[in-house]
Amino acid sequence: MIPQSPEAAKRRARERTRQATLRGAFVASAVIVAVAAARDILDGWLLGAAILAMAISAFVLADRDREQQVREVARPRTSRGVADALLANIPDPVILVDRRAIVVEANAAARSLLPAIKQRHPLSFALRSPDVLDGIDSVLRTGDALRVEYVERVPTERAFEVLIGRLEADAPGLDAAAGVMLFFRDLTSARRLEAMRVDFVANASHELRTPLASVLGFIETLQGPARNDPAARERFLEIMRGQAQRMTRLIDDLLSLSRIEMRAHLAPQGVVDLTGIVSHMVDTLQAMARERGVEINVALPSAALTVQGDRDELLRVTENLIENAIKYGESGGRVDVALRRRSGEGSAPQVEFVVQDYGPGIAAEHLPRLTERFYRVDVAQSREKGGTGLGLAIVKHIVNRHRGQLTIESQPGQGAVFTVVIPESVQAQVLVP
Ligand SMILES: Nc1ncnc2c1ncn2[C@@H]1O[C@H](COP(=O)(O)OP(=O)(O)O)[C@@H](O)[C@H]1O
Ligand SMILES: [Mg+2]
Repeated sequence: MIPQSPEAAKRRARERTRQATLRGAFVASAVIVAVAAARDILDGWLLGAAILAMAISAFVLADRDREQQVREVARPRTSRGVADALLANIPDPVILVDRRAIVVEANAAARSLLPAIKQRHPLSFALRSPDVLDGIDSVLRTGDALRVEYVERVPTERAFEVLIGRLEADAPGLDAAAGVMLFFRDLTSARRLEAMRVDFVANASHELRTPLASVLGFIETLQGPARNDPAARERFLEIMRGQAQRMTRLIDDLLSLSRIEMRAHLAPQGVVDLTGIVSHMVDTLQAMARERGVEINVALPSAALTVQGDRDELLRVTENLIENAIKYGESGGRVDVALRRRSGEGSAPQVEFVVQDYGPGIAAEHLPRLTERFYRVDVAQSREKGGTGLGLAIVKHIVNRHRGQLTIESQPGQGAVFTVVIPESVQAQVLVP
């Protein structure tokens, strides 16, 4: 709450004294007239003077009352309530301080950012930032708004831009608090996004530069020392083809990632049968599995299981997960693929797609980062297996777009389980009895 300023209190006391004096004058005139009349000494002059005095004080009093009423009406009675409600609902920290940098008001976000903040205590007790405190001084001196940076290091590093602005001293209802407002804008996520973007460009360029350098190297060798060596030429051309294919895969993955991201906010419109998609993908990858000595066990429902989705995107999800299980879980010799309906208690039915391998598994510290672009447990191994490090990032984006969830569980040495859960299509349940 805003305390009364000394000026306002004085003004109100002066007003009360003036009204009391006027009322006193009115009553005194009335008494004089009454007494004079009672004692029969009321002559024309005395009566006239007394009536005039009464009229004047009545008139002045009535005028004061009207003025007071007008002022009362003009003052927005609800402005405090509205201001409080507004402040409470602003998700960013907002603090109001007076001219001596004493806290007048702090919203919930400010209190959670600065737990030590207290009304009527100096802001410096809760916020030890010379930049902000000097900023308040300078705003009070010059009247110009300022932006300064405030970085909090504990418990986690967070960066804020603090906008410091002077409050209008004659703003209705705020006269008592005339001082400075501080508005904190959280820059942490913007900074993180920016860092991710820079990393992404650096990673993508690096991934392309490696195969390009190798292709250029072989071209130079073929133009020079190996010019007349047909056997070396055949071998080098084969390697160059492999590198060019790797670049193509990388560019394909980058393009599909950006396409999926662009449509991330649009829910897919089609209705597709996941049973058909999974069985098609298992057939496609059988040859690759056989080559590596991996057996695929499939457990599919006997009927169609439909979801609202995009057929191509769901094909990519099943392809990436089954291919990873075959590639990285090769040593387990077996991959289990299952699709089933999952109906929780009271919740809408969902479709669950599970790929389990029995390979080396993934250490716990890698699990949360697997879906980051270009993140690989073992970069050399992934490259050697033709990986780009984008597969799981693509899977995650597609699953999100389908309002689904991807979970990864793994015990090192015991393989890994990748589970995708997507809401079952209600529309299709009506169409397909
Ligand atoms: N089934 C799995 N078993 C062990 N590690 C896996 C498995 N699936 C994925 N990974 C790890 O996750 C990383 C990222 O996978 P992904 O995004 O598909 O990239 P890529 O397959 O192109 O390397 C892989 O490089 C691998 O280290
Ligand atoms: Mg992959």
